[in-house]
Amino acid sequence: MAVKKILRMGDAQLLRQAVEVTNFDGEELKELLADMRDTMQALDGVGLAAPQIGINLRIVIFGVESNPRYPDAEPVPETVLINPVITPLSQTKEDGWEGCLSVPGMRGLVPRFTRLRYQGRDESGALIDRTASGFHARVVQHECDHLDGILYPMRIVDMRHFGFSSELFPDSDVQDE
Ligand code: NI
Repeated sequence: MAVKKILRMGDAQLLRQAVEVTNFDGEELKELLADMRDTMQALDGVGLAAPQIGINLRIVIFGVESNPRYPDAEPVPETVLINPVITPLSQTKEDGWEGCLSVPGMRGLVPRFTRLRYQGRDESGALIDRTASGFHARVVQHECDHLDGILYPMRIVDMRHFGFSSELFPDSDVQDE
């Protein structure tokens, strides 16, 4: 178990199409997930995708009870999601501010589907099948985008709504990520 270095935007490894997990039995997956949890916790992240630590597999973790970086966010269940499939349940999108551990110190306004279904497997290979809305749905879309080489700045519609957290939100104590 270890806190891993997070790759930052500009690193070509973040632009790859990640590969499906086929082996759920080995120690390797357990160790990778432990590293991902340690890394996310150490950096106070809401979610982390395996490609962000240089592992090109379709694995994301996310979850938040309360997070100083997202003080208004509703809780999201602690989840390990492997080989995810997302199906929007409404074509409605909503703008919301996002940050990313691979884009430290910045925030951008990103449109995301407000309601979706996500399916995948947990660390033991068991099926996950949930519906989510609001912040939960946003986090799932953000993390799963990492598996297709997409970083949130690529989703920003109006680049005037992209900048340094400290300039966009001077009065809040939003932490640098
Ligand atoms: Ni991210």
